[in-house]
Amino acid sequence: MNTPAPMFRPVLTLLSGAVLWSASPATVAQTALETFDFGRREYVSNCSGCHGPAGRGDGAFKAFLSVSPPDLTRLSQRNQGQFPQQRIYRTIDGRQEVRAHLGGDMPIWGADYLSRYAADYADVPYDPESYVRTRIAALVDYLNRIQVR
Ligand code: HEC
Repeated sequence: MNTPAPMFRPVLTLLSGAVLWSASPATVAQTALETFDFGRREYVSNCSGCHGPAGRGDGAFKAFLSVSPPDLTRLSQRNQGQFPQQRIYRTIDGRQEVRAHLGGDMPIWGADYLSRYAADYADVPYDPESYVRTRIAALVDYLNRIQVR
């Protein structure tokens, strides 16, 4: 019984109208803000291809890499239960970190974001390092939140 009897239809129409009406633009905007997760967005668009959609090291590009991307949900577990925030920040940035021991293809995000900054803010004054730091900090925060406990 999928279609309601004709006599109920006006009632249903009224009800759905009420639902639409109650979702005022303010409510919609607020919900969008609450569900917007900058760190997650950066992760999904930049990292999931290698590290996997949930960070478990099973991204689609894994097969093409000489070194397997690590499981990013176990960074705390592999560090006595403490999330190694500073080290992870520096690893992602990559500009200061001596990565000689890392033989893989992990990109240098500090440099990558700097070049994107140049494209995004061609004619607006904005500090390039703030652009880079905001994004890396959001990624570190996101990774902290997806750790297995
Ligand atoms: C092209 C594939 C690739 C992409 C894209 C990539 N990574 Fe990696 N990542 C790797 C590989 C491979 C390693 C292992 C280290 C190495 O050999 O370079 C690694 C290592 C890491 C580590 C070190 C983990 C540890 O155990 O210390 C972190 C943190 C990390 N990646 C975060 C990220 C973040 C955040 C992004 C997105 C901004 C990202 N990666 C994008 C391939 C990638």
